[in-house]
Amino acid sequence: MAARYDSIGLNYAQLRKPDPRLGAVIHAALGQAQTVLNVGAGAGSYEPSDRQVAAVEPSLAMIRQRGPSAAPVLQALAERLPFGGGTFDASMAILTIHHWTDKAAGLREMRRVTRGPIVLLTFDPCHRPWLTAYLPELTVLDAVQAPAMPDYERWLGAVKVSTVLVPHDCSDGFLYAYWRRPEAYLDARMRSGSSSFSAIDATAGLEKLKQDIATGEWERRYGELLTQDTYDAGYRLVVAQ
Ligand SMILES: C[S@@+](CC[C@H](N)C(=O)[O-])C[C@H]1O[C@@H](n2cnc3c(N)ncnc32)[C@H](O)[C@@H]1O
Repeated sequence: MAARYDSIGLNYAQLRKPDPRLGAVIHAALGQAQTVLNVGAGAGSYEPSDRQVAAVEPSLAMIRQRGPSAAPVLQALAERLPFGGGTFDASMAILTIHHWTDKAAGLREMRRVTRGPIVLLTFDPCHRPWLTAYLPELTVLDAVQAPAMPDYERWLGAVKVSTVLVPHDCSDGFLYAYWRRPEAYLDARMRSGSSSFSAIDATAGLEKLKQDIATGEWERRYGELLTQDTYDAGYRLVVAQ
């Protein structure tokens, strides 16, 4: 699974630019932490510039996309973090846990190396953003990949879960980011920013979406969204102190 990003992550840095509004939510959750570990760090999105950050990422293709100002990175898996106990004030794992082979082990490792808050941005697989009406395959995939929300408490003890609303012009092109820009899903390049599209056959659903956009049916069904600035697409911030 980790090696998957060696092939699908090639345009990641262009399509997945960190969104400053989501960044502010993540950074606030890190509290006063001065040392931060970023697990499943990818190209370095959301790494705070005002703290001392170390990053862990298994995919070389992702590591190569880290800019010169990104934190130092070690090629490693969440499930086996190459650090001693209590090394960091806080740790973060952003839109990555659904890829981990052993999620419980990865979180156990984060708890071991972290003295303070563990901050996760994840997706609630019970949520149904409108795109799933066209692509029910995504619901099946999310149910298989993403932990159910009660799992976090089982693995980490008490957690605080909050909804992270997605701005309509979100610069980070994750799966449900284009909720107010439905045409984006018809563009193969935009879709390549999300690993989910490489895991499903989206042909029929995207054809239906294309027709519905052309005939105005999408707007009849979901036009209300065009008046909204933010949307609950199912993303959740999970924080364990
Ligand atoms: C959607 S990207 C998110 C990257 C980054 N956190 C961000 O917000 O842009 C998911 C990342 O998780 C990494 N990953 C996959 N399996 C992993 C594992 N077992 N441990 C740590 N990272 C993993 C992938 O290589 C990929 O870089």
